[in-house]
Amino acid sequence: MKRLPKWWKKSVVYQIYPRSFRDTNGDGIGDLPGVIEKLDYIRELGCDTIWICPFFESSNYDNGYDITDYEKVLADFGTMEDVETLIAEAHARGIHLLIDMVVNHTSCKHPWFFESRKGRENPMGTPNPFREYYIWKPGKNGGAPNNWEAIFGGSAWTQCECDGNNKSDENCECGENNGRGEYYLHIFSPMQPDLNWESSKLRDEIFRMMRWWLDKGIDGFRMDAVCYISKDPSFPDTTDGNIRPCASFGPHFQAFVRELNEKVLSKYENIMTVAEMSESTPERAEIYANEDDSMFSMIFQFQHLDLDGGDSFKWTHRRINLRELKHLMEYWQTNLYGRAWNSLYWSNHDQPRIFSRFGDSEGPLHEKSAKMIAACTHMMQGTPYVFQGEELGMTNVRFESIEEVRDIESLNAWKKFTADGTFSEAEMLDLISLRGRDNARTPMQWDDSQNAGFSTGTPWIKVNPNYTQINAADQLARPDSVFHFYQKLIQLRKTYEIITAGRYESVDLENPDVFAFLRVLPDEKLLVVCNFTNHPASVALPKEFLSENEKGKEILITNGSCTNWKDGKLEAYDAFVVRMFETCGMV
Ligand code: GLC
Ligand code: CA
Repeated sequence: MKRLPKWWKKSVVYQIYPRSFRDTNGDGIGDLPGVIEKLDYIRELGCDTIWICPFFESSNYDNGYDITDYEKVLADFGTMEDVETLIAEAHARGIHLLIDMVVNHTSCKHPWFFESRKGRENPMGTPNPFREYYIWKPGKNGGAPNNWEAIFGGSAWTQCECDGNNKSDENCECGENNGRGEYYLHIFSPMQPDLNWESSKLRDEIFRMMRWWLDKGIDGFRMDAVCYISKDPSFPDTTDGNIRPCASFGPHFQAFVRELNEKVLSKYENIMTVAEMSESTPERAEIYANEDDSMFSMIFQFQHLDLDGGDSFKWTHRRINLRELKHLMEYWQTNLYGRAWNSLYWSNHDQPRIFSRFGDSEGPLHEKSAKMIAACTHMMQGTPYVFQGEELGMTNVRFESIEEVRDIESLNAWKKFTADGTFSEAEMLDLISLRGRDNARTPMQWDDSQNAGFSTGTPWIKVNPNYTQINAADQLARPDSVFHFYQKLIQLRKTYEIITAGRYESVDLENPDVFAFLRVLPDEKLLVVCNFTNHPASVALPKEFLSENEKGKEILITNGSCTNWKDGKLEAYDAFVVRMFETCGMV
């Protein structure tokens, strides 16, 4: 097939968590008509791709990441006609639509799992064809097959076998060992059994379903937790029970992705895929996000977000160290250059709000710090992702009691760590307010009316009370808002090739306060300088930018009044981007 230019290299993606975006029928749950209603808003921001989190039929233990039918829409969100309208209306505005494919696991309420758990054989003694759709293993020494711990807590194995003839089996709840038969594997919660990609029958079902979606006209996929589809086939114990190293990037992973590409992705011109892959390294990115289109378009790596705790233990007050972050970003930016494509993100539906992680989210410089953080990512090489509300500078929320928390991960952690004495209830609530995923899931703040203009009903999760100060209506009306800063950053990416194509070079790398770098093309350079602190700081600028020759230097964007940028002295949270063009003073 002929190669088309990769449109997604110039794209900026807007991520929607539909449950929290916009509710049009007053049931407190965001819906697809709400997404359609806000397409013009997204267009105005300048994003030309949407990644929408799962809207499929689901048991909702993990808000849609536990699918019961891949080809139906959950009634909370709307109908299949709504999806079709969304595709058409997005395309009419020049916006691509990516859907979220959760194919490492299903819900335990998926019909495949109902069938699978009935045992290896049917009552007549013939093999149960659905058994191989999931991963079943006999127990060992009176317990689970190995010591793997599920990402959402507890053992990654649950014993559950129902013969299907007994009425009570229909109510057989997953998550409780029923004392019979084999154990099934679930990397996340017991309600999310892992699919067995070793089965070619299962793979064919998945591939057919993905083609069905592409035939509807979507423009690609975000592949949820895809690094886990191949596991170490010997299912070894790990030293500390950490499941990630042995359950991800197993020996057949490359073959599975290649097959997915051959049988599905390569059949459609011009689609984009982004693969969620914790445990990623630039070496892995080079394989799975390479330039020859044989795998995925790009991946999400997690190393930069792991710097303040990491997946293995996220419940900590640790802060990201700027120097570590700079080294890491340099490592990704330089190693992928010309070999693979980066995705750029600080925020998504699994992360606390970035402006509470860095920046002055509670203070007077909130907006300034938000713009600085935005400039830093948007000037790197890769495809930027803006998570709903990020463009307004939305922040973490304070959870006043555990009753306000909805997320399965936070609730499980609360149970575990308050029971075993690791944290007091107050400490754990603090940590959930700091690190929990619900911070990203509070309703989008549209205006200062009731419930932030999200819903006329009772929202499924609390609204952040700061919506009276932080909301879209206010920001759209104010030219100096965070929204308009993002809009400008996105326009710059569309205007200046160097933002897409330039080589990355660190500036003053060991500076503990300032994140500065260059983007370089043969006859052009871009200098990006960001003070990550709440105090004045200085930076050693590259000499070619300090040359007396003023010709060909222009400030493309700044969040302050950096008229004296050449002295390298910065006020708190200052950020500026200078472009130097033609050949003035360049080597
Ligand atoms: C991914 C999703 C997350 C979900 C998990 C299990 O990490 O982003 O929200 O809970 O996979 O599907
Ligand atoms: Ca609704």
